[in-house]
Amino acid sequence: MEEQLNKLVSDCTAQISSAANRKELSDIKVRVLGKSGELTALLRNLKDLPSEERPEAGKHMNIARAALEEKFAEKFASLREEEVAARLASEKIDITIDKPKRDIGCLHPLSSVRNRIIDFFVSLGFIVTDSPEIETDYYNFEALNTPADHPARDVQDTFYITDHILLRSQTSTGQIRTMEKIKPPIKMISPGRVYRSDDIDATHSPMFHQIEGLVVDKNITMCDLKGILDMFAQYFFGEQCKTRFRPSYFPFTEPSVEVDATCNHCHGSGCRVCKGTGWIEILGAGMVNRNVLSGCGIDPDEYTGFAFGMGLDRITNIIHKTDMRAVFENDIRFLKQFK
Ligand code: DAH
Repeated sequence: MEEQLNKLVSDCTAQISSAANRKELSDIKVRVLGKSGELTALLRNLKDLPSEERPEAGKHMNIARAALEEKFAEKFASLREEEVAARLASEKIDITIDKPKRDIGCLHPLSSVRNRIIDFFVSLGFIVTDSPEIETDYYNFEALNTPADHPARDVQDTFYITDHILLRSQTSTGQIRTMEKIKPPIKMISPGRVYRSDDIDATHSPMFHQIEGLVVDKNITMCDLKGILDMFAQYFFGEQCKTRFRPSYFPFTEPSVEVDATCNHCHGSGCRVCKGTGWIEILGAGMVNRNVLSGCGIDPDEYTGFAFGMGLDRITNIIHKTDMRAVFENDIRFLKQFK
């Protein structure tokens, strides 16, 4: 019986190791360890042994059974691993196959400069608003303290669609639309396209971009305007950049200023870019005119505010030393430089 058991164990071990899959392995297990399996049959035969040999023989059989069970379990686990690995390999999708290469583009210089300007103001808590490019005379002029007979209307050569409908000539329209919707405290910027009947040259185009800014709250002063614009200039043109205010005139602000920054190319010593002055004009600004506030239902005795409007194309041209025509032509060779 001992011999039979040894042979059974060694045959079974060989079969286990050559089993090709889990089905085959489980068939072998049933054949050897199952209810009518070979080892079970041997166990049954124990009763035919002389009683003094039975305990020893029984012990061997149990050890053999436990050893075989362990081998079956190990083989099951390794077959499962192999099958999973084979399945993963067969189901793998090679997404790199034969893909034609694509050129990755980049943001247009106007978009990336606009995004940087927006990021700066948003980081100070400004909201970003949008307003229509096709406007009425009211939002473009009247509400901005520029009545029909006002001389400032001649300065901006506006594209009229009808007597009262026009392509906005300034994003200052966004101030009015914002103040109509929300009440102070207000901190907003409004970027967008504007239109004027200008001929195209290095610094002009009939369509260009502006970013309007507006802050209205109690006790807002010109110092707040100066503080924010100084920070803005330093963020954009470097820490050494200074600003200066020159008195100016806009119907919707009183007092009004034009703001210059020290030239970012020569840092103030004078060069070709700043025409030898050391300064570059960056925007128009001022304290919001009382008429504009009250026209929007905001009490000018309680609230004050400042506004500013900058040319995005101008700032882009200053930073990248480009020309308005190059920026709008969209020649891919030009745009590629900004990658
Ligand atoms: N709207 C003016 C323009 O197009 C720019 C401007 C100047 C906007 C002064 C303002 C401001 O808000 O306060 O030339």
